[in-house]
Amino acid sequence: MVHVVFVAPYLLRATLQFIDGAATLPGVRLILVTQDRLAGVPASVRANLFRFHRVENVMDETQLLAAIHELRAKVGPIHRLIGTLEDLQETLARVRQTLSIDGMDPITAGNFRQKSKMKEILRGNGIPCAKHCLATNRPQLDAFIDKVGYPLVAKPPAGAGSRATFQLNHAGDLDNLLSENSLSTGKPILFEEFIMGNEYTFESAWIEGRMKWHSITRYYPSPLEVLNNSWIQWCILLPREIDHPYFNDIREIAAKANQCLGIQNGFTHLEWFRRSDGSIAVSEVAARPPGGQLTSITGFAHQFNIHQEWARSVIFNQFAEPKRCYAAGAAFLRGQGKGRVAAVQGIKKIQEELGALIVEMKLPAIGQPPGGGYEGDGYILVRHPITAVVEKALSRIITSVRVVLD
Ligand SMILES: Nc1ncnc2c1ncn2[C@@H]1O[C@H](COP(=O)(O)OP(=O)(O)O)[C@@H](O)[C@H]1O
Ligand SMILES: [Mg+2]
Repeated sequence: MVHVVFVAPYLLRATLQFIDGAATLPGVRLILVTQDRLAGVPASVRANLFRFHRVENVMDETQLLAAIHELRAKVGPIHRLIGTLEDLQETLARVRQTLSIDGMDPITAGNFRQKSKMKEILRGNGIPCAKHCLATNRPQLDAFIDKVGYPLVAKPPAGAGSRATFQLNHAGDLDNLLSENSLSTGKPILFEEFIMGNEYTFESAWIEGRMKWHSITRYYPSPLEVLNNSWIQWCILLPREIDHPYFNDIREIAAKANQCLGIQNGFTHLEWFRRSDGSIAVSEVAARPPGGQLTSITGFAHQFNIHQEWARSVIFNQFAEPKRCYAAGAAFLRGQGKGRVAAVQGIKKIQEELGALIVEMKLPAIGQPPGGGYEGDGYILVRHPITAVVEKALSRIITSVRVVLD
């Protein structure tokens, strides 16, 4: 039996799916380390856990180390230390190294987490990406802006979920940003040339440094554009056909990007742009599966238990390539107006219209405050063998379902 520790601060729905995927893998004894309460684990998932261990703050390396020491004393060797949360990846890697647990090391985790370092590695290996500057002072930033010009993107050096990410169109936007966030050596801000283009993702599974499978998804529109326009209900589309020559260049570039960042085992989630002249810019790569609904639609399109297969890749270094037999998509429902969710209109009609195309749905609860992110307040996932049918369904959902805030 392999003892696997799964670390997660909070037990969100998507996280629980990964936890259960790992816990139900034959040969695995899964220990959940979390700061959430046992009551947050549904009984069906709890039944598959070997142990539950609560700590005050799983992001705190000292607490995490102490927890693993305690678990070792109780159950014996810990063979794997895993987690899907982006913000945890470097901490997990450091704890693994300290305790000689197999898995991604701190240098590799840093390559995927620290966006400035990532871009240096990518560019150094001939992979196209946005020009960047990890700015600690104004003269350094001004020199970069003289070279690159506006628009720019400003973001945290190691962010996630578009948090604190801004498009700066002119010097006034920059002044506003810097009036609230001053530059210093201890608190640098990452600035990037703004890439104009359509945004896509490239998910892939890796075993012992070799790419075993990939999937491509299109964002409609980019997460930043969704954040900047509160009326937009975001969609992601996973076309069924990705073996088209249109994607040959990104296949090659993405494989190389992952390799030079150093992935060995597991999934990665790469974001990239296609400019109108056809050229590509890689945006960022995360050494983890993609966000909740993107993982789900990828599973639906390939009809496989994606949560479990991710777990298998990081625990047993194994992955069996699934077949892409559907197109799939997610439409995110987003509250319009101000206040809390007062009504969700048009659901019955869209259910009648789309019928079995809908494979999963989470509606905003009445009274719920708006989430504020690009993933809105609820979602509808659809699937069909024909890409155009999924495209039309997404369009129908976002034009006919309305979440009213009041
Ligand atoms: N250089 C850039 N040019 C244009 N848009 C960008 C650029 N960098 C980021 N964005 C937009 O901001 C979003 C969030 O930035 P990203 O680097 O992916 O951070 P996160 O780790 O928060 O997802 C991207 O999905 C994209 O829409
Ligand atoms: Mg991103």
